[in-house]
Amino acid sequence: MRTQTELLSLAERMPKAELHLHLEGTFEPEKMFQIAERNQITLKYKSIDELKAAYQFTNLQDFLDLYYQGMSVLLKEVDFYDLTMAYLEKVHSQNVVHVEVFFDPQGHLERGVSFEIQINGITKALDDAQKKWGMTYRLIMSFLRHLSEESAFETLELAKPFLNKIDAVGLDSSELNHPPQKFSRVFQSCKELGLKITVHAGEEGPPEYVWQALDILNVDRIDHGNRALEDTQLTAEILKRRLTLTVCPLSNLKLCVVDSIKNHPIQKMLRLNLNATVNSDDPAYFGGYMNENFNSLITESNLTEDELYQLAKNAFEGAWLSREQKAIYLDMLNASFKASAIS
Ligand code: HPA
Ligand code: ZN
Repeated sequence: MRTQTELLSLAERMPKAELHLHLEGTFEPEKMFQIAERNQITLKYKSIDELKAAYQFTNLQDFLDLYYQGMSVLLKEVDFYDLTMAYLEKVHSQNVVHVEVFFDPQGHLERGVSFEIQINGITKALDDAQKKWGMTYRLIMSFLRHLSEESAFETLELAKPFLNKIDAVGLDSSELNHPPQKFSRVFQSCKELGLKITVHAGEEGPPEYVWQALDILNVDRIDHGNRALEDTQLTAEILKRRLTLTVCPLSNLKLCVVDSIKNHPIQKMLRLNLNATVNSDDPAYFGGYMNENFNSLITESNLTEDELYQLAKNAFEGAWLSREQKAIYLDMLNASFKASAIS
């Protein structure tokens, strides 16, 4: 039996994949002020401390209001590059070897920032990280669900010249009153274009929204999925389809989806054999990146070594990687657990 300190160290050292990460949610206050200044934009907050003090949320919408304000300083390709690279450097230092990241094109298009500027800045950083560290990646374009399906279709049109750089489409922003079925036609078009589909469902929304993600949008993955546990038939269906859930413990705590990490359902998901994974969602806003999320589960929920292994393994298995690349990462993961067994 490993001590808690040993488990913490193992969680830091093991190779990890992150599957649920919004690039705009990696905006650290210091970087936000720096980019705002060089773009001559005045933020509503006078100082970094004042901005940080505003990071108190009672629900998803509270957070989103701040998140859209924050991203509004991104104007140029270099801004998207710098934001993305800062995240990649951070998670590289945490032994994250594969990332599947979201960006919200509509959040920038409505401010007059072209699709091309966004995607070029982001993919240049991802390609540099791949060259420098061998870090692999997938890029997910996400539709904002508080906007119309028509707007999602317009965004898809703008994305078409860049489809060679986009692996999947997502659905994020305000979940309540914006069920997946609102976007049935646009996701059908995305499927026909060969894009993978992942949808935020069951973060705040009811199990019915998760059913719609499965049955109407025919998703390949579910983001969050916490509330699926309220419906045993639904959990059985997720299990049957072997769908991965990209769970975000610190995000759930900060947005009051759970009242404590101790009461987080991720261990229950594992006991049900669901393919749960650990992710940071919007780390700059929610108090931590991948290692901090694992750390909170180990220290507050007494996560066991077997659970830690299963979570890390689920992420590589749920990643949109080739069979060969998955096998390489799983070998690395196994080696890190074996090495720690000896020490
Ligand atoms: N939920 C929904 N939309 C989001 C989130 C989230 O956690 N983060 C950024 N957009
Ligand atoms: Zn999210």
